[in-house]
Amino acid sequence: MSDHIVHILPEQVASQIAAGEVVERPASAVKELVENSLDAGARSVSVEILGGGSALIAVADDGSGMTRADAILSLRRHATSKIRSAADLTAIRTLGFRGEALASIASVSHLRMQTRRAADDNGVELAAQAGNIEDTRTCAIAAGTRIEVRQLFFNTPARLKFLKTVATEQGAIAESFQRVALANHQIAFRLSADGRVVFDLPRANSVLERFRQVFGPKIATKMLAFDLDRPGIRAQGLAATSQESFATGRMLYTFVNGRAVRDRMLIRAVEQAYQTLIPRGRHPATILFIDMRPEDVDVNVHPMKTEVRFRNGGAVFDVVYHAIRDRLSDQTDSASVSTSAEPSMPPADDAAMGLITMSSKTTQDRADDRAPSMRSDSPLRLVPDAPIDKAFQRPLTLAYDRDARGGSPAAPIPATPIPMYSQLRVIGQIFAGYIALETEEGLLLIDQHAAHERVTFEKLRRELRDGGIRTQSMLAPVSVELNPARASQVHAAITEIRAMGFEVEPFGPTTLLLKGAPAVFGPEGGAKLLTDMIESMGDAGFRGGGESAFENWLKQLACHGSVRVGRVLEPAEIHSLLADLDRTEFKTNCPHGRPVHIQFARGQIERMFRR
Ligand SMILES: Nc1ncnc2c1ncn2[C@@H]1O[C@H](COP(=O)(O)OP(=O)(O)OP(=O)(O)O)[C@@H](O)[C@H]1O
Ligand SMILES: [Mg+2]
Repeated sequence: MSDHIVHILPEQVASQIAAGEVVERPASAVKELVENSLDAGARSVSVEILGGGSALIAVADDGSGMTRADAILSLRRHATSKIRSAADLTAIRTLGFRGEALASIASVSHLRMQTRRAADDNGVELAAQAGNIEDTRTCAIAAGTRIEVRQLFFNTPARLKFLKTVATEQGAIAESFQRVALANHQIAFRLSADGRVVFDLPRANSVLERFRQVFGPKIATKMLAFDLDRPGIRAQGLAATSQESFATGRMLYTFVNGRAVRDRMLIRAVEQAYQTLIPRGRHPATILFIDMRPEDVDVNVHPMKTEVRFRNGGAVFDVVYHAIRDRLSDQTDSASVSTSAEPSMPPADDAAMGLITMSSKTTQDRADDRAPSMRSDSPLRLVPDAPIDKAFQRPLTLAYDRDARGGSPAAPIPATPIPMYSQLRVIGQIFAGYIALETEEGLLLIDQHAAHERVTFEKLRRELRDGGIRTQSMLAPVSVELNPARASQVHAAITEIRAMGFEVEPFGPTTLLLKGAPAVFGPEGGAKLLTDMIESMGDAGFRGGGESAFENWLKQLACHGSVRVGRVLEPAEIHSLLADLDRTEFKTNCPHGRPVHIQFARGQIERMFRR
């Protein structure tokens, strides 16, 4: 109806928007311009930079475009088409909402904008210096918008001085570009720097495919899809198998309603889901999408829009933790993605629950909003279709979204198989420490200690949950002599020692009488196990920081009680270990996070023989 969809926010609304530096470096300008393209419904966004963005940033899209009047208005402060009233601030459905980005960028650069709506015959071209429009003319361009920003910060020497090297600024641009690309797999992105193509990402039909485009096939095969939909909060995405871990948290991406955010609580939820699965101090690779009603999350907290405040952070933590933890608990089970998603999947035509779709649909539904579709309309699809291999259950084989409208499925991705160990042929034991198995794809070695450790740790945890660690009585009590220097400490810790499944009685000042030991390990090694535990006991006894401290002691117990490398196993012992392992959650890693198995691909072996 009206051409003027961009308007200036009333002062009373504008003053409620988190104020501060919007554009602090070239990467933030790129982020803002690309987000504008996405809000304009672009299907394809192309970014070109020169000199780390300081010399030139050009962003071109095929989105809605603007009228001449809107284009002129868009450079003014508090000019936006995305919200109208203060009430809109409580339920933001678009990436932009402040009406500040273009004004901020324009005020510190030479900006040229060309834009045309599909319905208009001509486009309009504006040129502005330090925010003042100096020239307006018609131009011929394809429908969409192209914005060129030259000499960023030319009139603010202080900020110019704080810019890092071209390489650093370019790196920051590439990283922020990556984040946007991951959150919008169905949109094509291109980034070139100083004439060289950095990313050329065609439209992908799943998050996994986009992940592979960005990070390469090797790590993509290690990603498991997860999806947990609880009332009001949905957590879905890709999480690396626990065989993978990284020195930094840089492979951890978190998005809330399509917006890349930094949030310590979310990071903690993800890292906690990997606890005991990857070594302490290492970090997982995870792409996490949280999808919730915009009313339940405040994005108007930080001038860069990278922080959020949840109305109910505890519930969000819970859903994220369980979404990932449950998926990691059995990494053989490729079906778990679709089973957890299924009950809540909307019918194909109305697949509007994907976070991206949710925003656009609702925006369109608002009667007073004549803005074009803010975001693209395809559902969030995590993984492409692929056939299921019978011998191996592969992670990522089932498509999260069974909707085949999007054309032919992508080529199957060869995922890293996590086998059912007990179904594989046992070759034997080597170095009295590793069980060698033949798989269809190669040779697999299992670390018997790591395997047994995980099995016993999970048994102990389960028993503890079910009322307490089970004790098995010894045939005859054994007396355990204590180091006199530590005896009083040991006596003080007797409750904890009993909680671990040891039936003990004080027997004089420096002796304990052991009558039973944790049933998981059998009674034989009880005395040795108790001595080992007492030796590893710290000054604070077995107490410490509550429940998780006790879990650490269970790890110790599992470690001391489990078969060591160096022990020859009977065939029957091997078989029962493998069967136990298959029944165990988190079987891929020992409780300290070391891998339980490693695999040598058949091809690798054949190549070594030059076959
Ligand atoms: N690439 C584009 N295509 C179409 N319209 C655009 C584009 N970029 C900006 N606009 C219009 O210009 C307005 C101002 O953009 P600007 O980025 O300054 O503010 P915003 O996106 O509304 O809020 P924010 O400051 O949070 O980004 C937008 O609301 C939108 O209507
Ligand atoms: Mg914007």
